[in-house]
Amino acid sequence: MSSHIIPEKKGGSASRPMTVPRFVAAKSKGCKLSMLTAYDHQFAKIFDSAGIDSLLVGDSLGMVVQGRSTTLPVKLEDVIYHGEIVARSVEHALVIIDMPFMTYQVSSQQAVENAGRILKETGASAVKIEGGTTQANTIQALGNAGIPVMAHVGMRPQSVNQFGGMGKVQRDARELVADARAAEEAGAFSIVLELIPQNIAKVITDELSIPTIGIGAGPHCDGQVLVSNDMLGMTEEFHPRFLKCYAELAKTIRSAAKAYIEEVTHGDYPTTEHSHD
Ligand code: KIV
Repeated sequence: MSSHIIPEKKGGSASRPMTVPRFVAAKSKGCKLSMLTAYDHQFAKIFDSAGIDSLLVGDSLGMVVQGRSTTLPVKLEDVIYHGEIVARSVEHALVIIDMPFMTYQVSSQQAVENAGRILKETGASAVKIEGGTTQANTIQALGNAGIPVMAHVGMRPQSVNQFGGMGKVQRDARELVADARAAEEAGAFSIVLELIPQNIAKVITDELSIPTIGIGAGPHCDGQVLVSNDMLGMTEEFHPRFLKCYAELAKTIRSAAKAYIEEVTHGDYPTTEHSHD
């Protein structure tokens, strides 16, 4: 069986919240996991009501919300601010928050303190950190503190300066498999595979007992994540091969804005219909 997890209805209304154990169990049940990024109340609420399994408050907010060219400048306070809004806005989705660059790399103690702040101040359920082998001690320390960790291997945007640019595919199969194994052994509950060849993603997915969540990693992963603004067609300048756009919101919003501007400047809006007596 391969299906998306449909939120279970209780008494015909409330859906059962997604938890870390349910997220992990999806793999053995053969249920594919759906995940999107979210940064604000309205999008989080809409994705949640659509039945998304998980929302990631990604440090992609550096690009999407703040208009920067990399994720490196994103601060702990930024993800706490957006994470608290998203966690408060959902009833079902598992909310996971990215730990920004240099909020966990210095030491395991730094990671536990900052991840502790994230969970305490946002109400989210888990954090995501980039790295496998190099972050094994940190993943373990976070687990010991009761903080569930999603790992992230392959293209790691926080290491953009080492990769020599965003979007560089990491092809060293042995290194990728070792990273994924190290993350699972250290106690990660799930792992993002970003921009890796599909055959390597399959090997990792078959070998690991925790769910793999792909982005640019082919069809064999246990789930999929996309940056919501990309899949909604908001980022018009960004067209990587892996991206499928499910809407053309930039076009829709621009034409709505043009229609509004035209009507206001021509005096066609507002009319008496839109006015109070
Ligand atoms: O920051 C982010 O949005 C991410 C996803 C693309 C996986 O890390």
